[in-house]
Amino acid sequence: KNCRIPFVVANWKINKLKGQVFDYLEKVNQQVPDSSVVETGIAAQDIFLADMVRETENSPIHVVAENVHWQDAGAYTGETSPRALADLGVTYVLIGHFERRKFFNETDATVNLKVMAALRNGLKPIVDIDEDMSVYTQSMEAQPAVAQVAAALAGVSVDQIRNVTIAYEPTWAIGSGEAASAQQAQKAAQLIRQTLAQLYSPSIAEKIRILYGGSVDINNAAQIMGQADIDGVLVGRAALDPEQFLSLVAIAQ
Ligand code: G3P
Repeated sequence: KNCRIPFVVANWKINKLKGQVFDYLEKVNQQVPDSSVVETGIAAQDIFLADMVRETENSPIHVVAENVHWQDAGAYTGETSPRALADLGVTYVLIGHFERRKFFNETDATVNLKVMAALRNGLKPIVDIDEDMSVYTQSMEAQPAVAQVAAALAGVSVDQIRNVTIAYEPTWAIGSGEAASAQQAQKAAQLIRQTLAQLYSPSIAEKIRILYGGSVDINNAAQIMGQADIDGVLVGRAALDPEQFLSLVAIAQ
């Protein structure tokens, strides 16, 4: 675990207005530690990304896109090009978030295309793996997560995988106020790491970060992040507040 730098990512989804974006960044920009201690990222709507890149120029905070298209350029009205995101200075991109899979027909196949497109353009994917963990807690085998990991990473090379972060989110925990227990989250993260070890190698799997997401807040973050295979958190609701975001980052340290 020591070889993996903790990573705290806020996912604003589509909840912020322009003024709030500037206000939030002003509050957190200089308060986060250097990326060598804890990496921090904020995922926002495309319309704010250029402003955010400029506002975080002197801050360790990484700007994260919430989605990307799998084509670098062309006639794809309404989509966002991975090449343009990288050119803008965006560092990370969420791919395959549960809400994309649920509301926008994202599939394992499109997730894989987007992962490849991000990597090809120098963006670092945060690949979301979701799962109805009620199935998992009954059988103690997180098979859907295993299948999603393998599908998302098909064709990703040994060189490229070092730039990938995995985010595990049980579907029922997202926005519900009911997080997975630290033990449940650890069990799933461990299984995902075993899958990575099979797909690549145990030593490579040791270097890949696995985040947990789903109703993380300042009360449960320490326990969750204290687990052996959990390297950080992907936070929606609690991270809408800059003070709480900073508290979560402090917990990760
Ligand atoms: O991407 C993080 C998100 O899906 C979790 O949301 O509000 O349960 O922290 P929330």
